[in-house]
Amino acid sequence: MTTSLQEITEIEEQYQLATYKKMPIVAERGEGVWIYTSGGERYLDLYGGHAVAGTGHCHPHVVKAIREQSEKLLFYSNLVYSGTRARAAEKLVSVAPDSLTKAFFCNSGTEANENAMRMARFATGRENIITFGGGFHGRTADAISATFLGKYREIGKPNVPGHLKAEFGDIESVRLVADESVAAIMLEPIQSMAGVKMAEPTFYRELRRLCDERGIILIYDEVQTGVGRTGDWFFAGSAAGNCVVPDIISLAKSLGSGVPVGACLVNERIASHIKENDLGTTFGGGMIAMAAVTATLEAIEIDRMLENVRDVESYLRERLKEIEQVVSVHGRGFLLGLEFAESAKAVHEGLLAQRIITGTSSDAKVLRLLPPLCLQKEQVDLFVESLRKT
Ligand SMILES: Cc1ncc(COP(=O)(O)O)c(C=O)c1O
Repeated sequence: MTTSLQEITEIEEQYQLATYKKMPIVAERGEGVWIYTSGGERYLDLYGGHAVAGTGHCHPHVVKAIREQSEKLLFYSNLVYSGTRARAAEKLVSVAPDSLTKAFFCNSGTEANENAMRMARFATGRENIITFGGGFHGRTADAISATFLGKYREIGKPNVPGHLKAEFGDIESVRLVADESVAAIMLEPIQSMAGVKMAEPTFYRELRRLCDERGIILIYDEVQTGVGRTGDWFFAGSAAGNCVVPDIISLAKSLGSGVPVGACLVNERIASHIKENDLGTTFGGGMIAMAAVTATLEAIEIDRMLENVRDVESYLRERLKEIEQVVSVHGRGFLLGLEFAESAKAVHEGLLAQRIITGTSSDAKVLRLLPPLCLQKEQVDLFVESLRKT
């Protein structure tokens, strides 16, 4: 079997398109907050594979559910009913804000956003979607056209028509473009890739009010903030977001603990406009993904991970005060941006040399942490000590 870093690197580079800058690690096994390499080294994973490992790597409850389901039925589409799908939909709706009563399952974050925008267009009969500078919504045609971050719209050219831009946190900039052509306002409530940026709590309330006044659908892209990451099940409905509940939430990333799955949660107003064949996808709602969704949500409850996120976030913030190079800490829960006075690249590399995986962002000064929701205080201590050395 091929195991060495060099051999595997060479083969991947020969046979895979070079679309990502990779760390020099061959990930072979994962357990909780740890990744083990083919060389037997252990890395503390504060990035969770792009925010996917919410329940930690290979949570036993999730692994068991996937294994058991795989022995019964790997897949059947939405042309049949399924107990596994029924349980996942019921469980997901049960943890959502009360007004979000129905789920649509798909396979990724970009697909969830495409469907969210489509539903808003169905519900209003309007075409335009307002999104924000700094927001990231995915790489398929409509989602990338809604992404006013860096060069993404450029990559996605020719862009889909029907997209308008406003400034995150600036309600006046939204008012200016929110006319009767606008179907939806869509936002990442915490802009992750932009450097973990949050708006003032009043901004979310004002957006909700504006949408209600002008008949516009409010969509939260909770692909990163959802499923417990902020210490609440969702940013929607949370005190941090001024208890604002949107009409649609889009989800993906950690929803299946690593099994690809996306979802939209919608309210009755939206649901009433969706008819047979308006939306669809072959793999959405497949049994393996659905077993993973239910088990993921159960694991978060069983291990009291929401409480853990809040508790360990406070501890981490307290300990980070010891590191004077960290000039501020943005975000909430386990979606945190550590801002340095200078580029965070050297810090990222220095931590990696000490076997700690973190993330960068499109703001060069911001180091991003998106650890599993089961991160413990002793691992925070290890991180802070390594940061000090770096
Ligand atoms: C906020 C947000 N929305 C959408 C997406 C797209 O998700 P996916 O890569 O699953 O298509 C991402 C991915 O990073 C994201 O962070």
